[in-house]
Amino acid sequence: MVTLGIESTAHTASVGIVDREAKVLSLASDMYRPAKGGIHPREAANHHVEVLPGLVGQALDASGTAPGDLDAIAFAQGPGLGPCLRAGATVARMLSLAWDRPLVPVNHCVAHVEIARVLSGFDDPMLLYASGGNTQVIAYARGRYRVLGETLDIGIGNFLDKLWIELGGTFPGGPALEIEARSGSELLDLPYSVHGMDVAFSGILTAALALHARGARRADLAYSIEVTTYAMLTEITERALAHRRRATVVLGGGVACNERLRNMVRAMVEERGGSMFAPPRSLCVDNGAMIAWTGHLARTAGRSVPVEGSAVEPRQRTDLVPTPWRAN
Ligand code: ATP
Ligand code: FE2
Repeated sequence: MVTLGIESTAHTASVGIVDREAKVLSLASDMYRPAKGGIHPREAANHHVEVLPGLVGQALDASGTAPGDLDAIAFAQGPGLGPCLRAGATVARMLSLAWDRPLVPVNHCVAHVEIARVLSGFDDPMLLYASGGNTQVIAYARGRYRVLGETLDIGIGNFLDKLWIELGGTFPGGPALEIEARSGSELLDLPYSVHGMDVAFSGILTAALALHARGARRADLAYSIEVTTYAMLTEITERALAHRRRATVVLGGGVACNERLRNMVRAMVEERGGSMFAPPRSLCVDNGAMIAWTGHLARTAGRSVPVEGSAVEPRQRTDLVPTPWRAN
């Protein structure tokens, strides 16, 4: 038996099917790309409504499963953009009713941890979750996943996207900036903004744009931005490891696709005698397979809901979501 998961928290609509051993049988995704500027929630939601039914069909076909093989339908309940979440939840409710399968709500951040945890084989790792909207260091403690450190303003990915658009590029900025950074060589002076276990990016954005206006090379800016902000993320992850006496780190979120970030975190963790694991890129970015796997864990712990109890929660907090499958 298998679980189907629907992801739609932001710009990516995705459907994944996983078996009871966390094997990803299929993953079908489609990303909303604004013609210019950042993400518009209602346009993204319209995109998701349009593509999700087709993605469900594709995922079923590619996995060779039929609706009758499904243990459950899982969906991302939050956090995320309201209209986008509602698009995914509506499709999930409809499938649950039509196929008479349990409906399981999943927290998106917990899903990033759980897919990385099962793939890594680490029992109790720290997660560095670096995506567009989120930048958090997360670990399990006393019945919940706890956010130990996070961004005080915007997510690192949104910061990279904004900067890249200001420098004349298009969304998404992170991957393009990574390529640009490879031809940078001069480390420009940017604010280094770590506050205990937290980080902040808006001051760096202002400083970078000021340097650009004064004629700094785009490649040097990209290089300096990567080195500075990834060092900040590596530092707060290390501090969290030291505080919580952990030795393993997993990465998640779209920015975790970045080679420099992976290398910096790996070097730090290995220097401490620990291990680091980064999932394949398709499972770092937002994806339906992580929702399906976490839905499987939640269902086996008895956490399915009736349609009336399946409202989305755009501001759902990671540390308020029960995770009974981790109880012992
Ligand atoms: P969430 O809802 O979890 O905040 P998200 O909607 O931002 O996620 P993700 O797919 O997790 O979606 O992340 C997208 C972000 O990742 C974008 O900001 C993008 O620029 C960034 N990104 C993708 N690839 C890279 C890369 N190679 N280097 C740096 N950033 C990257
Ligand atoms: Fe995400």
